[in-house]
Amino acid sequence: MFSTQTISLIQATVPVLQLQGEAITQHFYRLMFEHHPEVKGFFNEAHQASGTQARALAGAVLAYAAHIDRLDEIAGALPRIIQKHAALGVLPEHYPIVGRCLLQAIKEVLGDAATDEIIAAWGEAYQALADLLIAAEEQVYADNAARDGGWRGERVFRIARRVAESELITSFYLEPVDQGPLLAFAPGQYLTLLLSIDGQPLRRNYSLSDAPGKPWYRISVKREANGRVSNWLHDHATVGTELRVLPPCGDFVLAPTADTQRPLLLVTGGVGITPAISMLEAAAPTGRPIRFIHAARHGGLHAFRHRVDELAAAHANVEVLYIYDQPRPGDTPHATGVVTTDLLADHLPADRDVDLYFLGPKPFMQSVYGSGLALGVAPDRLRYEFFGPLEDLKAAA
Ligand SMILES: Cc1cc2nc3c(=O)[nH]c(=O)nc-3n(C[C@H](O)[C@H](O)[C@H](O)COP(=O)(O)OP(=O)(O)OC[C@H]3O[C@@H](n4cnc5c(N)ncnc54)[C@H](O)[C@@H]3O)c2cc1C
Ligand code: HEM
Repeated sequence: MFSTQTISLIQATVPVLQLQGEAITQHFYRLMFEHHPEVKGFFNEAHQASGTQARALAGAVLAYAAHIDRLDEIAGALPRIIQKHAALGVLPEHYPIVGRCLLQAIKEVLGDAATDEIIAAWGEAYQALADLLIAAEEQVYADNAARDGGWRGERVFRIARRVAESELITSFYLEPVDQGPLLAFAPGQYLTLLLSIDGQPLRRNYSLSDAPGKPWYRISVKREANGRVSNWLHDHATVGTELRVLPPCGDFVLAPTADTQRPLLLVTGGVGITPAISMLEAAAPTGRPIRFIHAARHGGLHAFRHRVDELAAAHANVEVLYIYDQPRPGDTPHATGVVTTDLLADHLPADRDVDLYFLGPKPFMQSVYGSGLALGVAPDRLRYEFFGPLEDLKAAA
């Protein structure tokens, strides 16, 4: 795909990307937001401030450079980026903006080391990746528009119902104002809300928390301390409020399996329960053995207990375990403390032939990931989502 010269020029930048990759991507975002404020609304400021987005992009750029001569080895990382971009509505016209700012950032951070030849090679490599992403994202947009109940771009929904699920999590039931059918989603997928709060455009992803096939989409939102959108939803979004919504996307979905009876282990912490409850709704009637482990601080913050108990009562294949680390008097968890390797071991089949899906705060995810590996679950059976840019779980494991 690339000439040998381009490949060696890109490969020569790998050591410097290892050292300076994050400095480059941090500088890239500064340049882009200064020169193209029109794209700022796509990005989450908190992910900028924490550095997670700059790290995720630096990781992707480094992986691309390191595998430039064998790109098939990193193809597995692309669906997540494609789905994230499509969820947020990234368009072809945004790519030249990112490309120009990225090349300028490489030039400015690397200084004399970034020769004209290196910049030209990176320009070529960027364009090839951009073309691939643009085509794949267009495919997602076209598929979402062509399917029954589908659409492209924004669609206006009205809040039909609000339900408090815990002291911090509230569900919003969204129905399309046009009263048309709804695009089917796969449990685990999320949609994107487009908001303007005090004149600031904001986009946020929210997992679909109800079973598929209902005449509404349900999202369940945790009130985050000082969070712009979550607090606005909790405080100002009432029945009748209209919201602009992009179609469901995401690749954190139940893997199709030839073995329909392979055990499924859903392990979540806090608001990480939202996609798992949708998965549970869909998988419970299949008869597949399911363990649903949920960690909460205490009963007041434990969402969806009633519904999960109902599903377990209705389906003998579903077993649940609730664990609280700071139980309040009167709480009735099955266990206290945190999800440990020993606890997980008790819920895994002896042959470890299991699909383990997990989601929660980062330390929780690092711990579950490490336990899963230590207990012999195959890495490709450990499936997870981040409620933000992808972070590294392996370092901790
Ligand atoms: C795929 C996916 C699915 C998701 N599903 C759900 C879901 O089902 N339910 C759910 O509740 N959430 C979900 N989220 C998270 C959601 O998208 C939002 O990130 C979350 O609601 C917080 O948004 P916010 O606007 O309220 O907070 P933000 O305004 O983004 O702030 C978040 C935190 O960062 C801090 N912060 C913000 N800006 C800065 C700054 N400039 N400097 C320093 N600190 C800052 C804030 O004080 C706050 O503590 C999901 C995210 C993803 C990516
Ligand atoms: C070749 C070019 C690009 C690459 C390699 C790339 C790579 C990435 C990666 C690795 C992530 C993190 C995914 C995750 O783990 O969640 C991401 C997220 C994102 N990308 Fe891109 N991207 C590219 C182009 C673009 C363009 C053109 C835009 C449009 C402005 C864009 C907007 C975004 C946004 C808004 C996010 C989510 C940010 C957040 O969570 O705050 N990207 N991209």
